[in-house]
Amino acid sequence: MNHQKVEKNINLMAILIVIVISIGGLVEIVPLMASSSVMEPYEGIKPYPAVQLAGRDIYVREGCYNCHSQQIRPFRSETERYGPYSVAGEFVYDRPFQFGSKRTGPDLARVGKRYSDEWHRIHLLKPQDLVPDSNMPSYPWLATTMLDGELMERKLRTLKMLGDPYTDADIEGAAAAVEGVTEMDALIAYLQNLGTARSAR
Ligand code: HEC
Repeated sequence: MNHQKVEKNINLMAILIVIVISIGGLVEIVPLMASSSVMEPYEGIKPYPAVQLAGRDIYVREGCYNCHSQQIRPFRSETERYGPYSVAGEFVYDRPFQFGSKRTGPDLARVGKRYSDEWHRIHLLKPQDLVPDSNMPSYPWLATTMLDGELMERKLRTLKMLGDPYTDADIEGAAAAVEGVTEMDALIAYLQNLGTARSAR
């Protein structure tokens, strides 16, 4: 009879559903918050230096994640093509992570060091110069836009507040580190570091 009561009273049912889902959520999420495999950086993973951090923000701004994932799944077809599968500890300093779910282009989780800086420069200016059939867009403005030093200093400061272990020297040096660096250079520095801590290639 109690069951009939629940089925006929939508408000009661809604409250009970929320309680059930909350318990399920807590059971799944809370242990992860304390799990070292998720919270502790993978060996060699450090907070992004100012130039790479700027590059990461450009990656997000330009929407590269709309066509590129950054997560290699633990399947042979993936590891043969891209390299060692991704583990959570590689992404502890990614806010937000760039896993993505769309692969119009290849996964980029281990693209670091696969090409030269010059390759990336030509590719970002006009992908079709290197891959004639590519449908990747060109990003010529990156080569002529400079990074903003004061902004990078503020970003590092904010990330430190959120718990990333930047030193005072990192923060004070941020503006100098990005002085005279173009957005193109920063994006390439970011790409060249992607996945290098774990790739055994
Ligand atoms: C419309 C979809 C699209 C967007 C947006 C896009 N790409 Fe691509 N990208 C591709 C395709 C398709 C390829 C494969 C052909 C090629 O190399 O150009 C590719 C290839 C690449 C490669 C070479 C990967 C490899 O392993 O060979 C890199 C690096 C890359 N893209 C970076 C970027 C970056 C950085 C951005 C954002 C600034 C971006 N892409 C935006 C579609 C896209």
